[in-house]
Amino acid sequence: MKILITGGAGFIGSNFIHYWTKKYPSDAIVNLDKLTYAGNLSNLRAVEKNPNYKFIQGDIADDKLVEKIFQEEQFNLVAHFAAESHVDRSILDPNAFIQTNIVGTHNLLRAALQNKTRFHHVSTDEVFGSLGKTDPAFNEKTPYDPRSPYSASKAAADHLVRAYFHTYGLPVTISNCSNNYGPYHFPEKLFPLFITNLLEGKKIPLYGDGLSVRDWLYVEDHCRAIDAIIKSGKIGETYCVGGNSEKSNREATDEILKLLGKGEEMIEYVADRPGHDHRYAIDATKIKNELNWEPTVSFETGLQKTVEWFQNNEAWWMHIKNGEYQDYYKKQYGK
Ligand code: NAD
Ligand code: DAU
Repeated sequence: MKILITGGAGFIGSNFIHYWTKKYPSDAIVNLDKLTYAGNLSNLRAVEKNPNYKFIQGDIADDKLVEKIFQEEQFNLVAHFAAESHVDRSILDPNAFIQTNIVGTHNLLRAALQNKTRFHHVSTDEVFGSLGKTDPAFNEKTPYDPRSPYSASKAAADHLVRAYFHTYGLPVTISNCSNNYGPYHFPEKLFPLFITNLLEGKKIPLYGDGLSVRDWLYVEDHCRAIDAIIKSGKIGETYCVGGNSEKSNREATDEILKLLGKGEEMIEYVADRPGHDHRYAIDATKIKNELNWEPTVSFETGLQKTVEWFQNNEAWWMHIKNGEYQDYYKKQYGK
């Protein structure tokens, strides 16, 4: 099988490439990634010399490039991860979110249709909006109600994916997943920012009252879920994926502080995120019943592994924090 993975130099995409190359070593992988600030080829050092792996630097919003790559490579499957993914950045400037998440996804869908390629879209639970404290968790039937430019752009992409299934018969699936954490998580998001700040002796900025709730899933469990959907998911269907692990940001922060032996004086309460979604939670019954998928890594174990990974990979995150990671491609590929 030949697979196009978009956004493979980012957090989840690079974890997925490691997962897939270990589990299916004879599959060929092409990683198409623009290398935005969030793309980091040093996430992929362990696979870059693998003869079944190829990297192409390119923008999914460039329709001609996308068309050319599809014609040349003849993929069996697209696993589409590439996106602008950070809510705070989407509030500051939505433009790149529209280009990549909507226009880029549409370019991929059109090329997939021309080449009759199976398409999986990696989407988010944020398309469903925000839950109240006692609301039931999101499931596949929850109406869309996105509230940030990021989630609105992901919702638009999901709608386009479904439109290509209903209108043109493109074989698609979608996964809407909750918050991931683990190795290679870019240190602008809550967990990696807080862990690395604490390792540097810096304070950690908790938004608002710190009581917003997220449902945390260890990234490898997300990769297993996408694998199950790609291999056995029903065409045209959506699967909600979650960690069964709701924590308020303050609860999660306390766990991180404990693991790093730091006290609550390190917390700095700062202004809330505009339009901050209060709570996300996923009811993953469908994927459990139909595809026999469940999270295997508990929050406690996953967080411990994650903290240890950041402790053991100081150079990785230091290079991001000081900007040196962007030189890696130049050194490696001479461009
Ligand atoms: P990330 O920001 O870490 O990585 C995104 C990758 O996409 C980067 O390598 C970047 O260079 C690449 N990219 C961005 N714009 C591009 C473009 N125009 N063309 C080609 N490549 C481009 O993101 P992530 O956290 O790994 O998320 C991956 C996917 O999973 C996204 O679609 C996101 O919406 C979805 N998702 C993320 C989470 C989460 O908790 N992180 C949860 C659910 C779903
Ligand atoms: O739910 C899935 C989504 O999870 C993905 O679709 C997004 O791509 C991913 O970024 C993530 O979105 P969140 O906005 O939930 O993640 P973030 O790490 O930015 O924030 C998690 C929570 O922590 C949120 O309630 C805001 C809060 N927060 C975040 C940061 C960066 C803080 O309190 N302080 C911070 O500095």
